[in-house]
Amino acid sequence: MKNLLAITDLTVKEIDKLIETAEDIKENPEKYQDKCNHKRLATLFFEPSTRTRLSFESAMLSLGGKVLGFSDANSSSSSKGESVADTIRVVSNYADIIAMRHPKEGAPLVASMNSSVPIVNAGDGGHNHPTQTLADLLTIKTEKGRLNDLTIGFCGDLKFGRTVHSLIQALARYTGIKIVLISPSELAIPDYVKTDVMDKYNMQYSETTDLEAVMPRLDVLYMTRVQKERFETEEEYYRLKDSYILTTDKLVNAKKDMIILHPLPRVNEIEVAIDKDPRACYFKQVANGRLMRMALILKLLGLDGEKACEEKQPQPLETVKGIMKCKNPRCITTTEQELEQVFKLTENGVYRCIYCEENLEK
Ligand code: CP
Repeated sequence: MKNLLAITDLTVKEIDKLIETAEDIKENPEKYQDKCNHKRLATLFFEPSTRTRLSFESAMLSLGGKVLGFSDANSSSSSKGESVADTIRVVSNYADIIAMRHPKEGAPLVASMNSSVPIVNAGDGGHNHPTQTLADLLTIKTEKGRLNDLTIGFCGDLKFGRTVHSLIQALARYTGIKIVLISPSELAIPDYVKTDVMDKYNMQYSETTDLEAVMPRLDVLYMTRVQKERFETEEEYYRLKDSYILTTDKLVNAKKDMIILHPLPRVNEIEVAIDKDPRACYFKQVANGRLMRMALILKLLGLDGEKACEEKQPQPLETVKGIMKCKNPRCITTTEQELEQVFKLTENGVYRCIYCEENLEK
């Protein structure tokens, strides 16, 4: 059984095949309309969503399957104190595949450890959002004609913006990618993305606070919302929330064929007038998300006609259990009773929580 917890669970070959399937679904939807007859998808959303939940549900319905689930943790027994582990042990009796969103980082890993059916991470805290990445990749491929040789600017909340972390992890394995990170220092990209992804894959990257200065270089501008729900204080959020607002005048020096992406929801970081600009592709991302989720469901259920690929064997890790405690307040270990704390020793000699990937502070 294969899960999708992080985009790195898929090889580049598998991502390219998903893109190919999504393109075929778009051209020939009738070919796929009965592929998931008698299959059930459970959508367990412990955190709000419009696109991800509804596109997963629309995807399964378009494949001829059925959906069940909840869209609010308060309507589930987690509000009575049920753990993620127990919820998943229960729901995997009712469904063939589970898409789960949870505010705690590493919750999908805990789910996968307790599931008899494939788990898809539909967003875990400020950590990962691999199916948004699939939507982003199809959009870039369709609009730019390639996934190589691109300069991509990520702007806004790069600390909590989980879609940014997942997309950089995906792009690291393509060639000729240059990353420009545009954020205030308080919202800079987490260290693990720098060391374990960009440094490890020798990606070219630079950091700046000045969006307009780098605009002329960009092939793709990926705007993000400042993630109010992840801040420890409202005061800090209000201080940073308007760090970047993309307005038409700021696009004057942008390339004519640059594309503007945003995972949505948008608050105020892209002026509505820009929606009419042919470079604005964020609503195309939404349509592509549904197609890629259809392709992913087929793959994880073994209905894509491909030979089941060998599961990636986890690398033997030097791990330490039970002695130390993760300090990240957003980590699943802070709420899941009985979950053993596990740390891996990284190549840089620091211990890192296996659930949320935060380094252990000395
Ligand atoms: N992009 C995205 O995850 O949107 P939702 O929060 O509406 O699912």
